[in-house]
Amino acid sequence: MDPYRILVLLSFFLRLHEGWATAVQGGQFAKGSIEVGGLELREHTTFTKIWTAAPLNSGDSSATFFSPSSLPSGFFPLGSHAQSHTPNPSPTRALIARDTANSLASPTDFTVLFSSNFSSPSPVFFWLPIPPPGYTAAGHVITTSPQKPPLSSLRCLPNHLLEPCHSDAPTWSPKSDLPFTVHLSYSLGTFVAGGEPPLHCLKKNDIALAAMPNLTQIRALIQTFSPIFNFHPKELYLPSSVPWFFNNGALLYTNSSSNGPVRIDPPGTNLPQGGTNDGAYWLDLPTDPASQNTIKAGNLSFAEAYIHIKPTLDGTATDIVFWLFYPFNGPARARAGFIEISLGRIGEHVGDWEHVTQRFSNFDGEMTQMYFSQHSSGEWVNAAELEYAAVGERRPAAYATLHGHAFYSKAGLVLKGEAEKIGIKDETAEEGAVMDAAAGCLVVSAEHLGLEEPAWLQYMREWGPKVSYDVDKELGKMMRFLPGKMKRGLRTLVGRLPKEMLGEEGPTGPKGKASWNGEES
Ligand SMILES: *[C@@H]1O[C@H](CO)[C@@H](O)[C@H](O)[C@H]1NC(C)=O
Ligand SMILES: *[C@@H]1O[C@H](CO)[C@@H](O)[C@H](O)[C@H]1NC(C)=O
Ligand SMILES: *[C@@H]1O[C@H](CO)[C@@H](O)[C@H](O)[C@H]1NC(C)=O
Ligand SMILES: *[C@@H]1O[C@H](CO)[C@@H](O)[C@H](O)[C@H]1NC(C)=O
Repeated sequence: MDPYRILVLLSFFLRLHEGWATAVQGGQFAKGSIEVGGLELREHTTFTKIWTAAPLNSGDSSATFFSPSSLPSGFFPLGSHAQSHTPNPSPTRALIARDTANSLASPTDFTVLFSSNFSSPSPVFFWLPIPPPGYTAAGHVITTSPQKPPLSSLRCLPNHLLEPCHSDAPTWSPKSDLPFTVHLSYSLGTFVAGGEPPLHCLKKNDIALAAMPNLTQIRALIQTFSPIFNFHPKELYLPSSVPWFFNNGALLYTNSSSNGPVRIDPPGTNLPQGGTNDGAYWLDLPTDPASQNTIKAGNLSFAEAYIHIKPTLDGTATDIVFWLFYPFNGPARARAGFIEISLGRIGEHVGDWEHVTQRFSNFDGEMTQMYFSQHSSGEWVNAAELEYAAVGERRPAAYATLHGHAFYSKAGLVLKGEAEKIGIKDETAEEGAVMDAAAGCLVVSAEHLGLEEPAWLQYMREWGPKVSYDVDKELGKMMRFLPGKMKRGLRTLVGRLPKEMLGEEGPTGPKGKASWNGEES
């Protein structure tokens, strides 16, 4: 019997007998704690609420502050925790640490960073722990009393385990004219407060790779948690594998006039490798209309989910990214009230790469969140809010929108970029074609495992040509039928569309997207 199958059966057995026991476990992955430089780190989710910042004026931001509580013996917090007030602040996770080789130190003192009454019933004190030399307080402390917190209330980490990092948005900034903001360290779950407080994260190379799942475990995670993709019942443009696209006549063009387009071999070895997207090469459909129609439709029996594994949250979590390739992206449609508006060919393009990402904690091997890419952005959804086919089933649904292939966690209609009540229709529905991500998938990249990547993944140029239609002309066709206000709305709406949808740029492959190396936007 195939070892992956044994793991899956084993995990199913464990689940039946121990409730929601960890599905995949072994070695340093999902053993409950991560060991690093003489420390044992754990993920802690029990908190006491300390203080809620009521907004001073309507529109001001607010936040709730928490302190880790009921710690297992020998463990210490690294600071307090905070959550923005949107819409329901609940604490997520903070790391706690136990010393295994004299690596932790208590602070030597505390000083008040900031204190205030705001409009809250109780005053509040933000404390800066003073670390001994060679150590850093990776989190600050909040109390509602003017007494200094006990020195034993947290531990400082040795400098060599940390590196500076940044957060895109403050968790709390009470007032725009106040030089005081609160930022959360996403990997540690502790906050720092002040003018421009330096934020620390765990140094990537220390733990990043030790607690990551190996290939056996990755396959078991895929078998247990991977999504079921649902396409719209009216979808004309389904995914295919990349070799299917090449086999069915996709062509490689170059801007050098002496070379005509060439066929691409199935693994993509004759595509230019590496480099940047400089406009010198692009892909396009075969030239005869019958082949074009065949290739545009894709073919689900050949479709594959291409999987990229990457460490995240400083190696305390693993992102499993599922990329789908569609030979063709259909035209966008808009909606104003009950009126459907065709946008002509706007939105159409050859070569469409879309993805969802599942995030797993390397502490317990559980899926915590899933990201759904939607045009040039997307959204994270907590695992508990995902749609599962049946009770006890752990494989979530992902719905792809008709023609545009944006992903959503639930079926329904979303109007994107609404202007004057006109929005682009992102429409998903049940009862269309379905693709089981686990049934046809290929792990194409996992830096920590040094896997060899397929040649087509190294192709950094465009997977489709620039637009072959005139956006203004396409718009003009629709405008004739609309009242003035809606015309303005439609123009604004189209102005907001991502460049790729407007066809001003051909789409790049997975490695050309910012999320390949960075966080999801
Ligand atoms: C992955 O780790 C597990 C648990 O330690 C081990 O049984 C398995 O052989 C490993 N697989 C690979 C491919 O290294
Ligand atoms: C909060 O307000 C009360 C009453 O105005 C005042 O006595 C107290 O000193 C204030 N506390 C702080 C921390 O500013
Ligand atoms: C093709 O594109 C490359 C990269 O942008 C450029 O350097 C080159 O001049 C172009 N060649 C022609 C013939 O336009
Ligand atoms: C997909 O390919 C299979 C095998 O070649 C073929 O039988 C099937 O008709 C194709 N499906 C579509 C929708 O073209």
